[in-house]
Amino acid sequence: MPQRDYSHLSAPELIDLLKQRDAQAHFGLVWERDQIEKDKHLNDDFVGLELATELCHGQGPYKNLVIEGDNFDALRHLLMTHAGRMNVIYVDPPYNTGSTASNRQGWVYNDKFFDPNSRYRHSTWLEFMYPRLQLACDLLADDGVFMVSIDDTELYNLKLLLDRVFGPRNFVANIVWHNSTSNHPTRVTVEHEYVLIYTKKRDANPPEWKSAEHPSKALLLEIGEQLKREHADPAALQQAYTAWYRENKEFLGPLADYKFIDKGGVYAGSRSVHKPDAKGYRYGIPHPVTGRACKMPANGYRYPEDTMKKLVEGGHIIFGEDESKIVELKVYANEFLTKLPSVIDLDGRKGANELKAIFDGVLPFNNPKPTELMTQLLTFVSKPNDIVLDFFAGSGTTAHAVAKLNAQDGGKRTFIAVSSTEARLDGTEEEKQKNICRDVCAQRLRRVLPADNGGAFAYLRAKPILRHRLERELTNQVVWNAVCLAHQLPINKLEGPLGWVTASDGVAIAYPTGTKSADVAKFAQAASEHKGPVICYAWATPRFAAAVPRAQVFSLPETLLGNFRKAAVLLADAEPEQAAVAGGEEE
Ligand SMILES: C[S@@+](CC[C@H](N)C(=O)[O-])C[C@H]1O[C@@H](n2cnc3c(N)ncnc32)[C@H](O)[C@@H]1O
Repeated sequence: MPQRDYSHLSAPELIDLLKQRDAQAHFGLVWERDQIEKDKHLNDDFVGLELATELCHGQGPYKNLVIEGDNFDALRHLLMTHAGRMNVIYVDPPYNTGSTASNRQGWVYNDKFFDPNSRYRHSTWLEFMYPRLQLACDLLADDGVFMVSIDDTELYNLKLLLDRVFGPRNFVANIVWHNSTSNHPTRVTVEHEYVLIYTKKRDANPPEWKSAEHPSKALLLEIGEQLKREHADPAALQQAYTAWYRENKEFLGPLADYKFIDKGGVYAGSRSVHKPDAKGYRYGIPHPVTGRACKMPANGYRYPEDTMKKLVEGGHIIFGEDESKIVELKVYANEFLTKLPSVIDLDGRKGANELKAIFDGVLPFNNPKPTELMTQLLTFVSKPNDIVLDFFAGSGTTAHAVAKLNAQDGGKRTFIAVSSTEARLDGTEEEKQKNICRDVCAQRLRRVLPADNGGAFAYLRAKPILRHRLERELTNQVVWNAVCLAHQLPINKLEGPLGWVTASDGVAIAYPTGTKSADVAKFAQAASEHKGPVICYAWATPRFAAAVPRAQVFSLPETLLGNFRKAAVLLADAEPEQAAVAGGEEE
């Protein structure tokens, strides 16, 4: 890494420099940006996504994407096609723990394994993360959510960096994931790591996140259905459930109060009919057996008498054995909504066990996250039609979790997983061929996802192309992929000289790959058969525009390049002042 040279400066110049530095002290995060090599080629390349048909899963068109390559490249491409459209981004970056590449925990920066002994260890990591986080922020929809796993090594730096990128107001929580138990002789056994959560725009997000999914709820629903099938008599049903409940209560977590059952299923008593603070409605509710008015809550009832009567008649109210117990409202387990706790208790080894089972007993990747962690988080922050991006996808856990959650709740979420080739530059021949994306991530997803519409994915390779070589190296499929993605269309294989697809809004998107008269004629013919608007990307714009005057014709490669420049502009605009990158005080 370049060292700054001060030897040519005079003593007064050095004093001036020191004074300037002193005057620049800020609260927040400072890292040695000028000492660290920047990500390459920001202004002199274009990144295309090549379709590797032989590695795709199922038949196209493909909504799910697995992208092989450096995520800086993939993100720059995605900014051209998906700016402001990602709903959830989760990442699990290298934690910068200092362990080396030989045990596969190291990380690659600009094609080199990073030296964990460098004195710029933290700065290099921050410099690596910063542009990727900037790109992630721009990719997020206004109501989008960003989540990142991390441990103590970089937590404090990362929090300040994220405050800088997203704004401290968008910080939601730092979730503690209690993932292990340790018997190591040490001062404090560390048995957790973290998931930091930010919104893109706090106010565009609902004020409460709730999830209908909870493992105990699923269990209660299942046992409830089973017992209902076995016991028609209400008393026998309750007796059977009480016996089961006594044995299992301690495993029910937040559903431990669900001790009753009737034909509607398992339920608990809720005090939500009681007025908690100000004065409520005051009246007597006759006890069904004694006929005497039940004891009233101190502040009265939440509902007027008529509403309460209807609840009683509908069998929604729970009475005690006599009038001395205050009544409660029945709440069924199937209505249970859970909150996202700031501490998640989940054995981290589950991730490795799952992956090992998928790969026939051989673990191909160290420390994958458990899918359960991901599904748990996603049930709170994702909606059924969301796009979920993971650009440190590793073995593909997030994509797997997206598919699991869709299967669970009938959602149609799509995933984009960016995973690296992670080929070792200094290893054995076999190690040099190692490709996490192709051999672990895509392979895993192929094994666990159905090859149908929901599970099929396109396998793409992010390929940087120097701009002066663009016209020679840009393939038709790469152009077509970019065009389709930019129009929110799935990827499909380009067949023949005219790419043509009609979007759901009736707009036809065309890409004539050639510039000859036959290409123009083919395009004109297709346009004449299409009633709706036509958008065309062409290499010889005037000829196509003249042939179909109603078409909107964009020129190649300028249109792609212009849109691709967004990433360079974004990152240039986001350059923090050299000496100080403030974190906590910005709003
Ligand atoms: C901690 S692992 C992620 C594990 C993942 N959550 C899972 O469950 O499998 C980090 C991953 O990021 C990858 N990675 C590191 N630098 C990258 C880069 N510049 N582009 C893409 N992936 C990168 C590493 O190859 C590693 O697979």
